[in-house]
Amino acid sequence: VPFMGRIEGGLQDGHKVTVMGRVLSTDENRFQVDFQMGMSDTNNVAFHFNPRFEGSGCVVCNTKQLGNWGSEERKMQMPFQKGSLFEICFKVDSSAFKVMVNNSIFLDYAHRLPFDQVNAISISGCVHVSYISFQ
Ligand code: GAL
Repeated sequence: VPFMGRIEGGLQDGHKVTVMGRVLSTDENRFQVDFQMGMSDTNNVAFHFNPRFEGSGCVVCNTKQLGNWGSEERKMQMPFQKGSLFEICFKVDSSAFKVMVNNSIFLDYAHRLPFDQVNAISISGCVHVSYISFQ
């Protein structure tokens, strides 16, 4: 069951979304944070942030439009560890999502869809979310 949050009025330049949680040690080897264009609209995801714990690990970022994934941006680095607590901070500015993991700059993801149409966040996979804030 994904953790869902509503972003009233849509994302705006200057918004900051902080997610705290723990990566679960389950058979599942991935989790994702999806910035969606509707609570139940899984066909349109402005930003899919997807850590994968396979091999040495990587984080896959992408956008889904009308059910179709675009080209992936992969960061061949794994800042998360199974069983460990984490904090992810997504800062939105006019050009990109700026992602910090455990207070270190991790990656930028340039907007492909209008970020002001993002009104929901869904977090699923091998993760337990303990806290989320919108500032
Ligand atoms: C696919 C995967 C999706 C999503 C996508 C990102 O292979 O099935 O869940 O992660 O990659 O590009």
